[in-house]
Amino acid sequence: MSADPCPDSCGALPDAVRAAIAEEVRMFPPGRQQSALIGSLRAAQEHNGGYLTPDLITAVAAELDVPAIRAQEVASFYSMLETEPVGRNVISVCTNVSCMLRGSDEILAAAEERLGINVGESTPDGRYYLKREEECLAACTGAPMMMVNHRYHENLTPETVRRIIDELE
Ligand code: FES
Repeated sequence: MSADPCPDSCGALPDAVRAAIAEEVRMFPPGRQQSALIGSLRAAQEHNGGYLTPDLITAVAAELDVPAIRAQEVASFYSMLETEPVGRNVISVCTNVSCMLRGSDEILAAAEERLGINVGESTPDGRYYLKREEECLAACTGAPMMMVNHRYHENLTPETVRRIIDELE
């Protein structure tokens, strides 16, 4: 890698995140480290309690030796990356067409009611984040479905949604 473009911000990256970024970079040919941006930003996000700060995004870009604007674009585009603090249990209800036809409106309403928040919000205790409505999560055969902390739950009913939420720590 070449000269560090942001030495101050780079110092903000913990060793564990730098190691995770190095792993991501190894998956791509030399000089293609920009392709490791999503995985690298996810690693930084996980280490930072579920969201990315502007300094973290800049530090990841510097670690990868790519322009900071590229990392900012990726961080603001992909729905798995958060740029604001959110609750620690991340719940994403799919409301795309297959899930909608199978009752996702009811599923989302059940989640909102159980959590006492609207979609796009986190609970005040920081325990749950009901992510903005998702596009198709590629599990249409199990519609209606939702993803909780990267795990899929399919063929949902309002009752199963309430149970799943209640079982989260
Ligand atoms: S529409 Fe919901 S998983 Fe495809």
